[in-house]
Amino acid sequence: MALQNTTDRGNWNSKLGFVLAAAGSAVGLGNIWAFPNQVADNGGAAFLIIYLICCFLVGYPVMVAELSIGRKTRKNPVGAFKSLGRGNPFFPVIGFWGLLCGTMILTFYNVVAGWTLGFVFEEVFHFLGQDAVSAFFADLGNGNKNALFSALFMTGTIVIVAGGVSGGIERATKTMMPTLVGILLVMIAYVIFQDGAGEGLRRYLTPDLSKVNTGLVLSAMGQAFFSLSLGMGALITYGSYLNRDQNIPQAAAYVTLSDLLIAFLAGFLIMPAMFVAQNQGIAIMDPQGNLISSTGLVFNVLPAMFHSLGGGIGLVLGVLFFLLLSIAALTSTISLLEVPVSYVIDEHGVGRKKAAVAMGLFVLAFSLGVSYQTSLIGVLVNIFNNIGLPLGGMMICLFLGYFWKTENALLEMEDGFPGVSENSFGKIWPKFVRFVCPVLIAIVFVTSLQALL
Ligand code: TRP
Repeated sequence: MALQNTTDRGNWNSKLGFVLAAAGSAVGLGNIWAFPNQVADNGGAAFLIIYLICCFLVGYPVMVAELSIGRKTRKNPVGAFKSLGRGNPFFPVIGFWGLLCGTMILTFYNVVAGWTLGFVFEEVFHFLGQDAVSAFFADLGNGNKNALFSALFMTGTIVIVAGGVSGGIERATKTMMPTLVGILLVMIAYVIFQDGAGEGLRRYLTPDLSKVNTGLVLSAMGQAFFSLSLGMGALITYGSYLNRDQNIPQAAAYVTLSDLLIAFLAGFLIMPAMFVAQNQGIAIMDPQGNLISSTGLVFNVLPAMFHSLGGGIGLVLGVLFFLLLSIAALTSTISLLEVPVSYVIDEHGVGRKKAAVAMGLFVLAFSLGVSYQTSLIGVLVNIFNNIGLPLGGMMICLFLGYFWKTENALLEMEDGFPGVSENSFGKIWPKFVRFVCPVLIAIVFVTSLQALL
């Protein structure tokens, strides 16, 4: 039994493999869709600067916390809090809360991921002049189509997760991440030279400081949490497969920087693309004079732009763009599914393949509900992203800071980073986990709660 568990749990094969997998988890719709939207809405570089600060002040310390809990216990989030919580029945609740949030986030994330995959077909059929078929794939409200694509997307996710940590997740992300970066760069290189792109770049890189207010800081913090995959134990789980010779603070820095870099690059694509679209006569402002964002931007403005570029180039760019989104989403859905899968493997002794299929189908059942009732997405985002993740992140910090103790976490980090307890990281990081992060997160949490009530 013990032997079977060790085999089923798995390990990352290489340091690069871990960084790519964790960066794959982080880089997702949050970077390529939500980040540029937030930039468009919130005064360009003003948002960018505050977002950077949030990632470093809150995101990075919490990521180090999650990875060290994971590597210390070599368990899923529930098991991790059980084993560090020394029999206290409350602590595993933090793990269960994460499990619940992750599962619920996956139910709608999977539907949105299905939309992006559907648009690959939308672009192809538009090119072929099959307007009715193309419109079918573009219809976000079509329940049967949503259900079909959710099922497809979940199948892909299950197959990769069932393949194991190094044989499935690591192998898949090792090819998908470079592909993603390649597509992003090719698209930027094309779009940036089109008429109108300059105006988009100017808006992106000029901070409109008049837009800075508490609301902006709070959205930047929420975005940092979601984008870095923090607060529900995804990185506890990924950390549990880390070898002892790996340097946790350094690995977390690589993951944070890659996530930031991809978000930053996505801004170089989306912001210019909006103004290229405007140059082609496509409306990019809503009646209130704000830039169109969110679903309208990704699924209306950008496809309209690809269509008006016309011919082969419109097809190629359109297909590439939606493939880019689908790949980014897939490397994230696998991390979301891996959390409940690792839970049933560790805590209930189920084999990996069975666990992946069972949990995947369980989540898919909810996803099918969301497919037919897409208005649920907003509700789920509010509860599980906006409240659930910050709450989880705060509990993780408080648990580590006041119960397990930062000294013990630093001791864990000594493996792979000798001397860390004594150097400046070892002096500063504990203060962040104990005070700075919980206080900042509490502010976000209370404010999002107020917005909801
Ligand atoms: N970070 C991903 C994105 O930006 C989404 C994601 C994957 C996530 N795993 C997560 C968010 C765990 C929160 C928790 O799209």
